[in-house]
Amino acid sequence: MQKGEKLYEGKAKMIFATEDPDLVWVEYKDDATAFNGKKKGSIEDKGRYNNQISAILFNLLEEKGVPTHFKGLIGAREMLVKKVDIVLVEVVVRNIIAGSLAKRTGLEEGVILSEPVLEFYYKSDELDDPFINDDHIKMLKLATEEQVKDIKKLAFKINDILLGFMREKGLDLVDFKLEFGLFHGNVILGDEISPDTCRLWDTDTHQKLDKDRFRRDMGDVEDAYQEVLRRISE
Ligand code: TMP
Ligand code: ASP
Repeated sequence: MQKGEKLYEGKAKMIFATEDPDLVWVEYKDDATAFNGKKKGSIEDKGRYNNQISAILFNLLEEKGVPTHFKGLIGAREMLVKKVDIVLVEVVVRNIIAGSLAKRTGLEEGVILSEPVLEFYYKSDELDDPFINDDHIKMLKLATEEQVKDIKKLAFKINDILLGFMREKGLDLVDFKLEFGLFHGNVILGDEISPDTCRLWDTDTHQKLDKDRFRRDMGDVEDAYQEVLRRISE
């Protein structure tokens, strides 16, 4: 597979064309941002960790019947994925209160939810990814009602699979963000699943092993990403 012209560069990844119109080449960067790009930095080898962590998790999900864009790894920080039309909705699933849910509700970080909570955000840098609901998705024509139904069903299924998998690795899956895309008209999982897009806490010590270490200037960021890769590779 040949790496063609650069199609897009985002905050954490670059996308290149390939000779196959259905496939694109993704290169994961070490750049790190938070608060919609207001905080900028770099995490050594993050691109490598997130590429490999995402590949393991996409493979796991595919094995369990979740359609994803993942085709295969092509390098330490590069993967081949199906070219999708991205749905401009960020889907967050939560199992434990943290981050913006703690802020929004006044509830304390760390409280376990009796049922997972699903939220939608409008994927728009200009608007700062605002919180939206099903009616807003319909109003903005971001997805059809049928697609929203598929997205919710897949998001909860992904949560079940990842919760169980992470539990076996001594990790609590606190919350995570997913993005979906349309491939030949079908909803499939896109983007990445990594410590950039998940909160992962050590089950015993509650140590944070995710991007909150960068967001909150806690230090040992690289070690946390490396530790997640080590655990899920076993
Ligand atoms: P939040 O508590 O800040 O809303 O974040 C919820 C989850 O979504 C958390 O696992 C981090 C992830 N996330 C992203 O992947 N990208 C984002 O832009 C934001 C705000 C959160
Ligand atoms: N991904 C967002 C940004 O780049 C925010 C975050 O992950 O906290 O700013």
